[in-house]
Amino acid sequence: MNRDSLTVAVVGATGVVGRTMIQVLNERDFPVGELRLLASGRSAGQTVSIDGRTLEIGEAVPSAFDGVDVALFSAGADVSRELAPAAVAHGATVIDNSAAWRMDPSVPLVVSQVNADDLEGHAGIIANPNCSTMQLAPVLMALRDSVGLERVIVDTYQSVSGTGADALAELEGQIRAHVSGEPKQSSVYPHPIAFNALPEIDVFLPNGYTKEEWKIVSENRKILGLPELRISCTAVRIPVFVSHSEAVHVETREPVTPERARRLQNRGASSATKSRPSTRSPLSP
Ligand SMILES: NC(=O)c1ccc[n+]([C@@H]2O[C@H](COP(=O)([O-])OP(=O)(O)OC[C@H]3O[C@@H](n4cnc5c(N)ncnc54)[C@H](OP(=O)(O)O)[C@@H]3O)[C@@H](O)[C@H]2O)c1
Repeated sequence: MNRDSLTVAVVGATGVVGRTMIQVLNERDFPVGELRLLASGRSAGQTVSIDGRTLEIGEAVPSAFDGVDVALFSAGADVSRELAPAAVAHGATVIDNSAAWRMDPSVPLVVSQVNADDLEGHAGIIANPNCSTMQLAPVLMALRDSVGLERVIVDTYQSVSGTGADALAELEGQIRAHVSGEPKQSSVYPHPIAFNALPEIDVFLPNGYTKEEWKIVSENRKILGLPELRISCTAVRIPVFVSHSEAVHVETREPVTPERARRLQNRGASSATKSRPSTRSPLSP
């Protein structure tokens, strides 16, 4: 792999997340030699303009990964389950943004500031967590390493961007309908989201949590290397276009003042990788 000039594929390139990935690759001057934009057959042949260059969208099929070094997947779990192994078989390293592989014991689930050492020995697929986990894990890491974690209660207030392009259009349509005095049409969410709050993100599981809430519980346990961590979550969808918020209540093992907790959090947000407790099992090569 020539690290100075990588061939990078973005799967889901027409979506809210895929388009943001392309923007961030540009902003950070990531060493992209060739950028391959992939989506469903519905978008194949369409063109997008990036930095003055016109790029064609290709269909995400196994042969599209020929010669790809890094494939960034963000087209939903079904697509990742089907195509990520094919991309690896073609020689790509997959970074998967969906929930498909996160809890697979042979796949590292990584937040770069927290557990980058878990990347060692990966077998081709690397998962990144749910958006709410991503911003929470560095904060919990800082407390875990200094005063220990007894239990954590998280309430999330999640924007509509997390559901994708159709949901953003639904929120805008409902706001317009409300202002015009017309009925609000819902198809993405089970209830109107405009001027509302939905304490129901994804389906309910037999344990009483929603799938979204359980992701935040189980993904934080895996990333922090604390499989027994007492952590609970309530996840609420709110009528905000972009930006998630969280209220986090932490009981620590040792006393900590608010000032020290703030200092630790600032350090956690900017620190390099720290090693985790020895609960992790070696990853297969
Ligand atoms: N980790 C996180 O924090 C986080 C947050 C939000 C979302 N996600 C993940 O990212 C995914 C995309 O989210 P989004 O907000 O960008 O959704 P979106 O705006 O609805 O876009 C979906 C993207 O997936 C593509 N796609 C759909 N079916 C496909 C198929 N069969 N083959 C190839 N591409 C296909 C779409 O292509 P077309 O335009 O051709 O249909 C589009 O590019 C989600 O499903 C979720 O798994 C993760």
